[in-house]
Amino acid sequence: MIVCKADFLPNSTSRKLGDGNSWATALLVCGNNHRRWNVGTQSRLIVVHNMVDPGRLYHYEGVLFCENLFPSSSLDAVQKFTVRKDDVYIVTYPKSGTTWTQEIASLVRGSDDLEETDKLPLDTRIPFLEMVQPEPVYKLLESVESPRYIKSHLPKRLLPQGMFHMKPKVIYVARNPKDVLISYYEFKLHPWGWEEYFNNFLKGNVIHGCWFENIAYWWQHRNDDNILFLFFEDMKNDLKGSVRKISNFLDKPLDENTLDEITRRSSFDVMKQNKSANVRVPFGEKAQMLRKGKVGTWGSRLTPEESQAIDETFKARLAEIGLEFEY
Ligand code: PPS
Repeated sequence: MIVCKADFLPNSTSRKLGDGNSWATALLVCGNNHRRWNVGTQSRLIVVHNMVDPGRLYHYEGVLFCENLFPSSSLDAVQKFTVRKDDVYIVTYPKSGTTWTQEIASLVRGSDDLEETDKLPLDTRIPFLEMVQPEPVYKLLESVESPRYIKSHLPKRLLPQGMFHMKPKVIYVARNPKDVLISYYEFKLHPWGWEEYFNNFLKGNVIHGCWFENIAYWWQHRNDDNILFLFFEDMKNDLKGSVRKISNFLDKPLDENTLDEITRRSSFDVMKQNKSANVRVPFGEKAQMLRKGKVGTWGSRLTPEESQAIDETFKARLAEIGLEFEY
């Protein structure tokens, strides 16, 4: 089995995603009507539902992207993006608990008014660096006042390279590959049926690339002072403890009542009902940001052979870096 080798797709698979589907996406012209968030240069927050096509699949430095959401011009610019020491980055492989961590980190940041904070769309509170929606988000971020909170799914080599000498705070969240694989399949940001998707995931040939490559660097640096490495599975086991870890890491220790309230607001059931957090995803009628929110749902989806194929694909590499997952 080839791991993480992202071959160029044959022409037949370089087709448009979501053909026949209309894509509604949240176009964020982010604003500083809410001073704490001060996300953009505009004086207002506009959330526009716009039809956007994800575009053709293509490879950028060996990593698969779709050209309308993640064009090469944006990926080029992101690597040179000027990092500030007081930025906070939430970095994850897709479907690993990003939205959840965005919710918690933003509530910690906005803990003096949780109600108001929770009304802002999550991608406004913590914008998605490499995305074009259709404004390039990195451009909006250039004029945002510090501290900026920023989300990215990019592998280390495509992230702003300034992150590695400026050393801003980074919260990295990892999730076991079997649940990630299912969650990403259901998200429909791919044009494939099950078998083709499954094989592409194992090859690292899905949008944003290889699951293992994304995690390995951050795991090896998990004890660096500027890095907080979290597991989705631990967040499920002890949400309040995870909220506390995040608040301490952000140098915002909170009293027990506030911790309890953030824990309540970031629980699956409450977030699912919160339209600012559980935003409608722009592709596929059935795709949802908050779907099941559980550990181990792969058990009822994968055949024993598929489960074994995932184990075999990642086992040796995980063992090499001493990383184990709870399934
Ligand atoms: S994305 O689109 O890549 O940013 O997706 P991401 O947010 O990383 O991952 C989505 C999965 O996280 C689950 N989720 C949660 N689980 C438990 N509790 C809370 N509060 C929560 N919020 C999001 C979400 O349901 C997706 O997992 P699945 O397995 O698909 O349900």
